[in-house]
Amino acid sequence: MDELTWAKNLAKTELHAHINGSIGMPDLRKLADLKGVHLPAEIALPGSAGFSLDDVFALFSKTIYSVVRDAQALQFVVEHVVAAFKRDGVRYLELRSTPKSLEGMDMDGYVSTVVSAISKAMSENETIRVKFLLSVDRRHDPETASTIVSLAIKYANLFPSIVVGVDVCGNPACGGIKHLVPSLSRLKLDAPTLKLVIHFAEIETPPEEDELLTILSLNPDRLGHCTFVPDHIMATMRARKIPIEICLSSNVVGGTVNSFEAHHLKQLWDSGYPRECLILCTDDVGIFCSDLSNEYVIARRVLGVSREVMEEWAQLVCDKYAR
Ligand code: IMP
Ligand code: ZN
Repeated sequence: MDELTWAKNLAKTELHAHINGSIGMPDLRKLADLKGVHLPAEIALPGSAGFSLDDVFALFSKTIYSVVRDAQALQFVVEHVVAAFKRDGVRYLELRSTPKSLEGMDMDGYVSTVVSAISKAMSENETIRVKFLLSVDRRHDPETASTIVSLAIKYANLFPSIVVGVDVCGNPACGGIKHLVPSLSRLKLDAPTLKLVIHFAEIETPPEEDELLTILSLNPDRLGHCTFVPDHIMATMRARKIPIEICLSSNVVGGTVNSFEAHHLKQLWDSGYPRECLILCTDDVGIFCSDLSNEYVIARRVLGVSREVMEEWAQLVCDKYAR
């Protein structure tokens, strides 16, 4: 069996997927046509010369959000994203998205639309279970962050089988997250069963060390990327068995890591970081154009391990996180 078919047949768990970054360009174009939005014939994607992480964020603000402007568009995106993950052999999926005001809809309406679109998508794709994390963007002010935490708690009470936590995302070049700490602490106090997941040390500068320590003091349930974590902080993470969402293509294609061979996954694996705490994820499959099966193929190549080892690893991850 060829590598990709083997990887597609694995029952996989995806824990780090941004909704608006997971819509494929062909589906986005279909949606643009439906909504009468003009998209340029050529949209530069990663892989084009000089493409950087900043260009990824520009893609969201200038292209994707120009199309995903109302409830109908958001629903279309969620349904197409869930169907694509299902086709890729994902059995358990945690999607994340930043609540925003769209046409005719406030942040509460955004969350309610995502939740109902997920319910509908699951009823149409019975082999996949889908959950939702509400994202706070690091550029949000404390009031917006607090509103999103309150929405997470509200919707987790209403739909406990769908809403499972809060994520902190956003362009890491746009500054720290200390201003978000009161809201994130409140989440841990008021809703201890909800997960807190945070993008962590994604680029070389910042983070400041004391910010990383502040984040760890919040007891996050998982951390995303962890590309530029100083050794002594990584040692603490390992001792505490903090799960890391590994996004190979996002890091390499987004330009924060030079090559798959140089990716920190290999170092973490060889250092004995608990395997069930290393989770392969896509981040933004619509932008980085590498689905989760392909991430498994890349990981097997860079780790130099057998299919059996990869299968055991995928199973460990499913056993630990799919709930
Ligand atoms: P949305 O939250 O569903 O609109 O998904 C897109 C958003 O996810 C972007 O505007 C970013 O804030 C966030 N995002 C996507 N990829 C990354 C990443 O690699 N690092 C940090 N944030 C990201
Ligand atoms: Zn991300």
